[in-house]
Amino acid sequence: MRKLEGKVAVITAATSGMALATAKLFVKEGAYVFITGRRPGKLDEAVRVIGNNVTGVQGDAANLGDLDRLYETVRREKAKVDVLFASAGRGEFAKIGEVTEKHFDDIFDLNVRGTLFTVQKALPLFSNGGSMIMNGSISTIKGFPSFGVYGASKAAVRSFARTWLMDLKDRKIRVNVLSPGTIDTPVLDPVGPEAKEYFKTLIPRGEMGRPEEIATVALFLASSDSSFVNGVELFVDGGSAQI
Ligand SMILES: NC(=O)c1ccc[n+]([C@@H]2O[C@H](COP(=O)([O-])OP(=O)(O)OC[C@H]3O[C@@H](n4cnc5c(N)ncnc54)[C@H](OP(=O)(O)O)[C@@H]3O)[C@@H](O)[C@H]2O)c1
Repeated sequence: MRKLEGKVAVITAATSGMALATAKLFVKEGAYVFITGRRPGKLDEAVRVIGNNVTGVQGDAANLGDLDRLYETVRREKAKVDVLFASAGRGEFAKIGEVTEKHFDDIFDLNVRGTLFTVQKALPLFSNGGSMIMNGSISTIKGFPSFGVYGASKAAVRSFARTWLMDLKDRKIRVNVLSPGTIDTPVLDPVGPEAKEYFKTLIPRGEMGRPEEIATVALFLASSDSSFVNGVELFVDGGSAQI
């Protein structure tokens, strides 16, 4: 029996990286997935790569109108959500003293406000007993230089999980945070090869995580294998934040 047979999953920002790997694995495990991304060409490509049991809905996870359109599509096509992986997030560096309003607003707008409304707008369709997963970061508990606003935004997401599991306990909806360490995805492209080599030195195994190593953990949190796991922040970082 596949682990997500008959389940409907929504995964935001799933045209690349760990969320795309998760979408592929969820489909392999029997789910129908709705994925989002802003660039239509990239979204079409992801839908093609996933191959079947997938609908792509173009949109920005920070835009409430786009989120309404996403869930209207889900309602029309499948009429329920069993699993949500709210993965959309962004990060930029700015040292305290150099933080601009735009830097703060851009990051909190997507990571905090966008995540909140991605979850809230899913609720009318959400199945009792379903699973919500939010993409966090080890920066919730680390002091990475110049990454304060990003870290604070992901710490807010971590906090949401504690409250929301209580708000949703009568519906038996579980809410967990999956907090990756450094994962080799296109989000790291702008930092360049030298910075990537440096990141590797911070990881005990000396290699970054692969998107597929996040997907298997997302599957665990999505499926009944984690039925007694609720409100945790699960670090998937090769141990780098634990030492
Ligand atoms: N990679 C890491 O090392 C790492 C570590 C910890 C946490 N994270 C978190 O993991 C999540 C995704 O990371 P990733 O590295 O897997 O991403 P990625 O490979 O860079 O891909 C993200 C995809 O999401 C889409 N996207 C970006 N912003 C979006 C938005 N506002 N609305 C909808 N789609 C959007 C992008 O396509 P479009 O540009 O076409 O929209 C892109 O193809 C983020 O929450 C990030 O903070 C990453």
